[in-house]
Amino acid sequence: MKNFFTRRKFVRKAATTSVAMSWLSSRQAPTALGAETAKPAQLGGTPVHQGGWPSWPNWLEVWEPAVINVLRSGKWFRGRGGHVAEFETAYAKLLGAKRCLATASGTTALQVSLHVMDVDAGDEVIVSPYTFIATYNAILNCKALPVFADTDPATFTLDPTSIESRITERTRAVLPVHIYGMPCDMDPINGIARQHDFAVIEDACQAWLAEYKGRKCGTLGDLACFSFQNSKHLPAGEGGAVTGDSDELLDRCHAFHNVGVATGNFRGERQFFTRGCNYRMQQFQAVILMQQIDKLVRETARRRENADYLGAQLKQIPGIQPARLPENSRAVWHLYPIRYDAEHFSGLARDQFLQALNAEGIPCSSVYHEQYFDGLLDEAIHSRGFKRLFSAQRLKAYRESFQDLKGNRQVCATTVAFGQNLLLADREDLDRIAEAVQKIQTHSGALAKAAG
Ligand SMILES: Cc1ncc(COP(=O)(O)O)c(C=O)c1O
Repeated sequence: MKNFFTRRKFVRKAATTSVAMSWLSSRQAPTALGAETAKPAQLGGTPVHQGGWPSWPNWLEVWEPAVINVLRSGKWFRGRGGHVAEFETAYAKLLGAKRCLATASGTTALQVSLHVMDVDAGDEVIVSPYTFIATYNAILNCKALPVFADTDPATFTLDPTSIESRITERTRAVLPVHIYGMPCDMDPINGIARQHDFAVIEDACQAWLAEYKGRKCGTLGDLACFSFQNSKHLPAGEGGAVTGDSDELLDRCHAFHNVGVATGNFRGERQFFTRGCNYRMQQFQAVILMQQIDKLVRETARRRENADYLGAQLKQIPGIQPARLPENSRAVWHLYPIRYDAEHFSGLARDQFLQALNAEGIPCSSVYHEQYFDGLLDEAIHSRGFKRLFSAQRLKAYRESFQDLKGNRQVCATTVAFGQNLLLADREDLDRIAEAVQKIQTHSGALAKAAG
């Protein structure tokens, strides 16, 4: 076994050990602690956690023969059958989808799906603004406009009530993102798409095994996209997948990802040519993914239990709000986000709060900011192609509409997120997270003063 659950057991300093009491008692009084421990680490105190969180990704020695076999086979490319086809079958079964197409990455899975759902130059796609930049770029690469609906601050996902006002005659699809592995409220989203006759493509790049009303993310729209990049719960360095229930759509996905060639080796005897690119997965990626399916199931259960445990503690702290999930749904927590209200922390700014938590040995970050102000979309709007495809009036209104994303602005300004690997830690480590937040709250006046 290498690097898997081998992280060094946390050796707590004597002073900190005295803090390893129940969460409730730890809330009571920093006065019960040594003066140095009680002080925030940023002000010279002892961090509540000494490091040694579970590392990611991790692997098992027993995987090695399978990987070496691929090396020795000389069959490293997708071709027919092999581990790529085996993984496609296994992943579809795991989700309860009819079909799966493995791709080179999550971005290329999005690219394939958008093409197959007929998103073309001059079209518009309604999308969540609260996502990794690849979601925006996949739409821009079709020479289509990513039109941002707003984010619901309570759920961090697309607010279904903000979709209808964004629909135009050019709307071709909606692209909800199950961010951090939290399912979007898909019923109203699907209802609006059906009513206006456009496609639903799930960005499930962070949502392996997440569930909405008894069904897995990846089976809730026309097509769905996954990422198996290194940081993901099912990692292969790079990798992705498209899932769906329609043979016709998945055959076309296969052709597009296979430089436009669909041959009889895949489905039936048909051979057709279409536009396309080489977005194929390699056998090395697939063999590594195949080793991890049971591990994903086990670790997902552990992350869920630990997220419930952590959330129950954090929500007791005034000014800390965990995410609300849609009814009857289960997240998988690619990150565990909370919203931070500085008013309950003596006005300590969110970014100062993050720094104080990091100093306490708790890794966390703000994650996404308002990326639509960064220049990417301005570059697109001012490009020759977009100016040809959209009227000046449309592009001006589009640019101005970024100001209306009030929910998203709020989420970007107040999010604090913990990495998924923290949720694989022991309970006593998780207790330190809430303890650190509590400690910072107790000393927030001094921290805010020190921050100026
Ligand atoms: C929400 C989301 N969409 C798309 C992607 C793109 O996936 P990849 O990095 O595999 O291309 C990612 C990857 O981080 C993601 O998190």
